[in-house]
Parts: sequence; C-alpha cells; structure tokens
Amino acid sequence: MIMTSEPDGTPGTSYDPMRQFAEIAGDVRDPYPMFAGIRADTPVLHVELGRPGSRYRHDEKAPRITSLFTVTGYELARQVLTDNVRFSSAANAMTIGPVMGRTILEMDPPEHQRHRALVARAFRARVLDQWTAIIDATVAELIDAFAAAGRADLIPQLTFPFPVRVIARILGLPEADWPRFLRLSTQLIAVMRNWEGAIAASRELRGYFAEIIADRRRHTRDDLVSQLISAEVDGRRLSDDEIYPFLLLLLPAGAETTYRSSSNLLFGLLTEPDQLDAVRADRGLLPQAIEEALRWESPLLTVARSATEDVELGGVRIPAGAFVAVSLGAANRDPERYADPDAFDIFRDGTQHVTFGDGAHKCLGMHLARLETRVLLSAVLDRLPGLRLDPDADDPHIHGLVFRSPPNLPVRFDPA
Ligand code: HEM
Repeated sequence: MIMTSEPDGTPGTSYDPMRQFAEIAGDVRDPYPMFAGIRADTPVLHVELGRPGSRYRHDEKAPRITSLFTVTGYELARQVLTDNVRFSSAANAMTIGPVMGRTILEMDPPEHQRHRALVARAFRARVLDQWTAIIDATVAELIDAFAAAGRADLIPQLTFPFPVRVIARILGLPEADWPRFLRLSTQLIAVMRNWEGAIAASRELRGYFAEIIADRRRHTRDDLVSQLISAEVDGRRLSDDEIYPFLLLLLPAGAETTYRSSSNLLFGLLTEPDQLDAVRADRGLLPQAIEEALRWESPLLTVARSATEDVELGGVRIPAGAFVAVSLGAANRDPERYADPDAFDIFRDGTQHVTFGDGAHKCLGMHLARLETRVLLSAVLDRLPGLRLDPDADDPHIHGLVFRSPPNLPVRFDPA
C-alpha cells in the first residue's frame, strides 16, 4: 500500500498521516455487541474513569474525565441532544477547547445562536452550489491519478485526501501551502493522543490563518475566509479571534468525518455487491445509500455534554456537572427503532439517524458532507467500471472506538 504524506497523494518520507489516523481510531473491530449488551442492561451506563491503574491510555497533560454517563438508546440520545438547557455543550470546552479555542461546539444559548447564525451564512445553499465545481474538480484529479492502473487503495488515494483538499480550496489556501496545512491539521486532530503536539499545531495554524485573514482583508476573494470576514448579523462582524476557532474546527469537523463516512459507504457497497449493482443501475438510489451508510457506521461514535442540573434519564440519576456521552453509534443501531439494525441495507424503511447530531448543534456541514459524498460516489461509479474488492485484499474491515472507518480499501476495476 502506498502511504501518503501530503494531500496531493504523493508518497511521503518522514510523515505519515494515514498511520496516525489509524492509531487515533483504535483497533476495535466491532463495538456493536458491546453497545447492545449495555443497552439491554441499562439505558444509561455510569462508569468511573481515570483512576490510578486505569487501562485507558491518556496523555498526562490532557484534561481528565473521571465520571462518565453513556447514553445508548435512540430516543434518549435525541432527548439529550435536543435539550441544551439541561445538557450543556460546555463539556467540549474541556476536550477540544484548549486546542481550538472557543468554537460554536462548546457554546450554549444565547451565545450559540448568535455565532452559529454568523457562520451558517457561509453554508447556505447558494454557496454550496458555488463549491460544486471545486468538489467535482478535486474528485476528478484524484481519480485521474489511478484510473489507468486497474487497481487502487481507495483510502489513501481517494477518500482521505479528498475532503482536506476541498476544505483547502474552499478556504482559498494556495496549493503550495497544502502539505503544511495537512501536517498541521493531522496533528491538531490527534489531540487526545498527543496534547502538546496538538497545542503546537494549533498555535502554528493560528499564525498561518492570521496571514490569510490579513490578506483577505486587503483583497476580498471568492472564498470562505472572505465570506467569514464580511458576514454580518445585527450589524456586527466577526473579529479575527472569533474566526480562528471556526477555521480550526473545520478540519476535524469537516475533513476527518467526511473522509471516514465516504469510506464506510464504499466499504458497505463493496461488501454487498448486489447493493452496489443496484446503485450503479439507478443513481437515484444514491441519497438513500448515503444515509444508510451514515446510520450503519457513524464515523464519529460519540458527542459530549455535561448535565447543568441533577437529571433523571431513563431511570438513571445523573448529578449536576457530570459528563454525558451520547453514543451516536449505539443509538443508530437501536433495535427499538431499526429492524435488523446491524445489517447494511440501502432499501430499509426510514434511514433517519443521529450521525449529524440533533437540536441546536446539528451538524452545520451536513449538506456539504452529503454533496461531497454524492459527487465522490458518482465519479467512482462513472470512472471505475467493474469496481470490486480486490480478491487479494488482506482482511478488509472497519475499525475504531472513537472514529470508525476502514484503514484500507484495496479494489480492482477495468482500467480506463
Ligand atoms: C459525514 C460527515 C460529518 C459528520 C458525521 C459530522 C458530525 C457532526 C456532529 C455529530 C455534530 C454535532 C456535535 C454536537 O452536537 O456536539 C457536528 C457539528 C458540526 N459540524 Fe459536522 N459532521 C460532518 C461533516 C461536516 C462538514 C463537512 C463540516 C464543515 C465543513 C462540518 C462542520 C460542523 C460544525 C461547524 C459543527 C458545529 C455546529 C454547532 O455546534 O452548532 N461537519 N458535526
């Protein structure tokens, strides 16, 4: 397998983001029986973490979570996500805050609505249309690099570099800066693994973005940074200090999740060739295939909240201040809601899911993520005829307990 070190897919010498991503994900193949066991036992699991001798690996300098309540059922998950009075997002300040600064992810109302309204403008439908050309071109150039070969590993050669390149282009970053941008992005995302590295990357990225923002203040362009600078709600504009955290958040929120979700969709279709044939024959099935893959394998398994008061949830008492983990992965496979929840089935009735969260913080980039995945899948089907898993593939699988996706996806197809 070719390891990439740069978003342009060129083989690297010293730095290997794919390996780092695989490490962050953790090598857990199938956490779903564990989730099902917990759900059958209790709707809200309480565990004590971080005591001496704990088996959980943790960077000593990272903040320590000691008491954790995990929600596994679909209805209870939605209850927590849509109740931002009793369940605050301030929990995110503790985990990602020190690295990214004050992002909208950690804000509660009314601050959250105000800031989200400012940045949401940049994600409105008209702007998305404007990015379609960027997305098309990015997929095309990545596939061009291997279409003649008849074989590829779709993770390092396609799904991994794709969304980072899209974000770099949407932000209007010069192509010469991409290798540095990817190196720093990867370091930033690895925050729970290497706290000091992430803090250093955050500092360097801020310096880098400061130059870009200063440049766009002088010469407005047709990119997201320019749109953020000029966004105005109630006569107020974002300050540079408010723009940095948002730009930093786009990397983990927009690049990592989308790379993993499109990889999971490809994995689902390649391991269920009848369903792949059905989508190939009828592109109208693409949206439901995308939703089912999001439900079946949520790229991000958990989101965090903290209880603002003593709360009773599913018969379990959660004390004020406690850390609450909403298991999106478990909720999406709740048998109370989905028949045969472990099956990947693009024809199932109702693929609605909580993979993008719910309530006030529901993913701001979900339309972009869906658009990117649709463009990627269409291009794969158009340009890689006869696409199938490589029969020599060594144990293809999805893994991860924090993030989930396949580490590799070796395929064969009819060469162009
Ligand atoms: C399949 C891909 C994606 C998944 C699974 C995903 C998942 C999520 C989830 C679960 C949340 C809610 C977090 C919470 O409630 O605490 C969220 C929020 C967010 N996402 Fe995504 N996301 C994806 C793609 C994107 C993209 C492409 C972007 C932008 C480029 C993006 C930007 C954001 C932002 C800015 C927020 C914060 C919203 C707020 O706090 O109000 N996401 N995402």
